[in-house]
Amino acid sequence: MLFEKYRPQSWDEVVGQEDNIRDLKGILAKCKSSGVKAPNLMFVGPAGNGKTTCAQIFAKNYLGSDWKTRTIELNASDSRRISDIRETVKPLSRTAVVKVIIMDESDRLTTDSQHAMRRIMETSPTTTFILIGNNEWEFIEPIKSRCTFFSFTPLTDEQVFAKLLDVCNKENISINYESENVKAGFRALISYAKGDLRKAIGNLERLITSGKEISESNVAALEPINLVRDTLGLAFRGYLVGAKDKFLDQYIMTAGDSKTMVRAFFDVINEVPDMEVKARLWNRLADIEHNILHGADPMIQFIAFVSFAWVVPHVPKACPVVSKELM
Ligand SMILES: Nc1ncnc2c1ncn2[C@@H]1O[C@H](COP(=O)(O)OP(=O)(O)O)[C@@H](O)[C@H]1O
Ligand SMILES: [Mg+2]
Repeated sequence: MLFEKYRPQSWDEVVGQEDNIRDLKGILAKCKSSGVKAPNLMFVGPAGNGKTTCAQIFAKNYLGSDWKTRTIELNASDSRRISDIRETVKPLSRTAVVKVIIMDESDRLTTDSQHAMRRIMETSPTTTFILIGNNEWEFIEPIKSRCTFFSFTPLTDEQVFAKLLDVCNKENISINYESENVKAGFRALISYAKGDLRKAIGNLERLITSGKEISESNVAALEPINLVRDTLGLAFRGYLVGAKDKFLDQYIMTAGDSKTMVRAFFDVINEVPDMEVKARLWNRLADIEHNILHGADPMIQFIAFVSFAWVVPHVPKACPVVSKELM
């Protein structure tokens, strides 16, 4: 993945976040001169703007050459329950070696788990926790007050653009920057990313590896919501096979995991004007989501849903979404 390949390895390579970097460097200098354990940190902000990257660089500077063996990265969404915290995090935090535990998505921990975390954080003499999350309000106050807080803001369009060009140059990708199509494509990459550099670089890579031009429509096609809108539009108009082909063709290309995709279906159903159709679709979507959560193949589930969407409008009522076109 290009965004992994170009993940900054030092402070100098991080784009933006200047205030945070300055304060983190200050903490590092203080730890070094006093020899005390680094405080627990909390990095909060939207996706793809350098939280995990800065946590790793902090750990690297704090722990020195063998930082990799002394840095543990956990994803809280895999271990949200209090028993997970007690069984996984607690024993890790108790070992004598000075270390950093980076906990991604820790705003998704249940309240109970957060209370357990707080106790572990208070009583570990060797571990510095870096809790990462998207939403400040999902952290309980006692945990927030025990961390030094850092807010990560989305990168600006200029910063995203500069980084995209940088990646293109380093990868020696031949791009016709003079082409109006390509210019519009870059504008679309930037505007869909909304300051999320992982998304911008990820979408760039999807186009490059599939040999597609960086054009506005090719970028737009990468958005799960656009794919779902097109697919359901076809199904509602009676093209079941067309809808299935469209979906299968693009599903792999989009940046969406199955959760994002379910969300996109949810949002597109919201655009359906017919109340009865809307209700049936939402209802069925809940089954699909349940099945996927319990291990069913998302692809089969989504196609099952598309088939259902093809059938539903034939139960009386006006055709949804595309009703204008049909008149
Ligand atoms: N501030 C940044 N400076 C440089 N690259 C960044 C920055 N933020 C994100 N990236 C790019 O996006 C990828 C994901 O960044 P990451 O730090 O994991 O984001 P998150 O804030 O979601 O933790 C990185 O590997 C890197 O390529
Ligand atoms: Mg991250």
